[in-house]
Amino acid sequence: MTDRPVELLLMTPGPTRLPQRVLDAGGQPMIHHRTPAFSRALVSVIDGLRPIFGAVTGDVLPVHTTGRGGMEGAIANLLSSGDELVACCNGKFGEMWASLAESYGVIVHRVCTDWTRGTDVAEVEQALRDHPKTRALTVAYTDTSTGGQNDVRAILSVTRECGVLGMVDGISSFGGVPFQFDEWGADVAVTASQKCLMASPGVAFVALSERAWSAYDTGTLPRNYWDFGEARKVYGKAQPETTGTAPVHVYLQLAAALELIHEEGLASVYARHEETARLARERTAAMGLELLFPELEKQSPTLTALRAPDGIAPKAIRDKMTQRGILLAGGLGAYAATSFRIGHMGDIRSADVDRTCTELSAVLAELRSGVPARVEV
Ligand SMILES: Cc1ncc(COP(=O)(O)O)c(C=O)c1O
Repeated sequence: MTDRPVELLLMTPGPTRLPQRVLDAGGQPMIHHRTPAFSRALVSVIDGLRPIFGAVTGDVLPVHTTGRGGMEGAIANLLSSGDELVACCNGKFGEMWASLAESYGVIVHRVCTDWTRGTDVAEVEQALRDHPKTRALTVAYTDTSTGGQNDVRAILSVTRECGVLGMVDGISSFGGVPFQFDEWGADVAVTASQKCLMASPGVAFVALSERAWSAYDTGTLPRNYWDFGEARKVYGKAQPETTGTAPVHVYLQLAAALELIHEEGLASVYARHEETARLARERTAAMGLELLFPELEKQSPTLTALRAPDGIAPKAIRDKMTQRGILLAGGLGAYAATSFRIGHMGDIRSADVDRTCTELSAVLAELRSGVPARVEV
């Protein structure tokens, strides 16, 4: 017999809480991945994702990996050793794409390396002028380490104009923040199952433009497991398939989650993310907490990164919150010892933010005074 884990309220930027309908979908009997039943689930997932990517006709392909694998796959499929890439590195995940590319022998020019600020179009334009052979640019839409949301639309207008592939990490944003792959002129966009898409980890999705497919035709890096051409071929069969054995239940969960998202309506889902973010920021400010990077041009609607009060370790805050049944995320990189993060993406509602902030306020009072405080419910 296994112990059932204590159910914590996951106020983290992924994985996120699974709604009951998604849990139920994941509890169905196994179906074989080369059957019409699986193909139907696969097609409904891809069709459900199209409006979230804003990709009407082009390819949205599954990759059986987490988000990082989708990012690595994009490098392996589209570039060659010695190609040049400009990487926006204003956070841990911007940097992740830069170092993935370097590990494949791509020459990376890092720009916008200040975590306290959003991406800067002028700096990107300058880098593309300085490095005219640049083939591609990478940028995170929401960088989960800073809580910032980059103006990817503005960046993509530059990549489009310069004939450079625009590659967007939408892992912490798609499904919570609007994105328009076609209209904004993206060439690659990546997301993953476990964040705003409210399913278990295990599947990444990559949208690709025709320009990206031209780069695929000339790229010479080894693709092996990541081969997007192979994924496109098997998805194009009369009975669409995936490469390799699919994590069937993640797809079943995603199909249910996407039904929920579209029943609520994308506009309402985005408005709900804005509202939970506003509430989280208003309530935490009222407790005297400061945003980790208040100077960011835009804070993401999907999470809030906060500075721990002077003299209080973020780990102590998180441990006490866990004791109260709520999991918060730690800070990342150089900010691990001074910050923590509250995720409010996917199925998170105002009531969850409210409960989190009530408990957080009590925890802070307790830590500030060293005396346990009574929680008003
Ligand atoms: C913006 C962003 N990019 C990439 C990743 C890496 O994704 P994964 O952990 O699914 O590999 C994450 C994970 O938190 C993320 O938030």
